Amino acid sequence: GESASGAPPCSGRKNEPLGPEAKQHFVSARAPEEEDRGGGERERESARARERRKNMFIQKAWRTAAFGLYGFTQFTKSGFVEHAKKFREEDMQIRLDGKNCLVTGANSGLGYATAQGLASHGATVYMLCRNKERGETALNEIRSKTGNMNVHLEICDLSSINEVKSFATKFSSLEKPLHVLVNNAGLLEHKRTTTPEGLELNFAVNVAATYTLTELVMPLLEKAAPDARVITVASGGMYTEPLNTNLQYSESEFDGTKQYARNKRVQVALTEWWAEKYSNKGVGFYSMHPGWADTPGVSKSLPVLSEKLSGNLRSNEEGADTVVWLGLQPKEKLVPGTFYFDRAEAQKHLKFAGTAASHEKIGSIVDSIRSICNLPANP
Ligand SMILES: NC(=O)c1ccc[n+]([C@@H]2O[C@H](COP(=O)([O-])OP(=O)(O)OC[C@H]3O[C@@H](n4cnc5c(N)ncnc54)[C@H](OP(=O)(O)O)[C@@H]3O)[C@@H](O)[C@H]2O)c1
Repeated sequence: GESASGAPPCSGRKNEPLGPEAKQHFVSARAPEEEDRGGGERERESARARERRKNMFIQKAWRTAAFGLYGFTQFTKSGFVEHAKKFREEDMQIRLDGKNCLVTGANSGLGYATAQGLASHGATVYMLCRNKERGETALNEIRSKTGNMNVHLEICDLSSINEVKSFATKFSSLEKPLHVLVNNAGLLEHKRTTTPEGLELNFAVNVAATYTLTELVMPLLEKAAPDARVITVASGGMYTEPLNTNLQYSESEFDGTKQYARNKRVQVALTEWWAEKYSNKGVGFYSMHPGWADTPGVSKSLPVLSEKLSGNLRSNEEGADTVVWLGLQPKEKLVPGTFYFDRAEAQKHLKFAGTAASHEKIGSIVDSIRSICNLPANP
């Protein structure tokens, strides 16, 4: 039957938590003036929610538009040519003989150009690749192009955190100081893919492996202090996303481009966090944006951009220029935690984009990454 107020009946069971129906009953049973006040408050709250949604939508649209404009004018080849007018030749006349560099994803695109660039400055380069055949081909090419025989191949599939850990143990057993770690390997996978270890693939390679590898080779980096540095190849794509604690993109509709942008935002915030955490260890942490370069990765994952900008994308060497530059510069010239673009400090947030405050979440994100990767809790 109906209840006295005419509202839908409650189930009548004692101590049952109030469901939505029951709540509705409760509200209708109040005095009329209370109901008016309650109704007015609800109206105002839903107006505020509408306003927040509208602002978020405008902010998102603004971010995308500002990123597009910034990108098309600066990230392209013409942007590089323009910025290169300010480059100083002497910056690149530094040698790295006797210094050890580890470059991930070194068989292709920017990683290849980075490994070649560092090798041409005399560094001992360890090329971390997942595929032996592709790795060997790249290794032989780089040795023959640079004449530097101190270039070596390391095999590791970074989508497996267990492999990253084994690699770090094996590499650490060489007991060599590590002067430069370049976290370059990365991907943009549009389809939601889960690795055999249960991680979302973009997150696994771009974030989990980057974090785990860096933390596990810290003792080697410290051996190379005060000269040591970690350069993480992030992306301007991160301008479109704030830092998000939803690391593995649990939303039902997967958007790989968005997930990639979120991953890159994590890399930039992580770099800031590392710079602060390890400020007394003599290891410098820098993230960077290579601009838009014509790499196998871009033509595979962003075919439309690749086609639209055909002829105006950067060469692999131009994309890797700032990575090599960061590897060569005396540490005093570099600002820890900074995001670099074309050999200069760049903004981490676009104006009015509303992304800046999100970096406060990095501490809890680090805790989550450590737990996902089965690393002991952060000391
Ligand atoms: N090109 C650009 O315009 C651009 C712009 C912004 C940022 N970036 C960043 O630059 C970095 C390099 O990208 P790219 O454009 O040079 O792409 P790329 O040509 O596809 O190179 C990516 C490299 O990462 C390696 N890699 C991918 N998954 C791996 C895994 N599970 N284990 C080990 N290695 C793995 C690839 O190995 P395989 O060859 O075996 O696949 C390859 O060597 C990425 O972090 C990317 O996000 C690029």
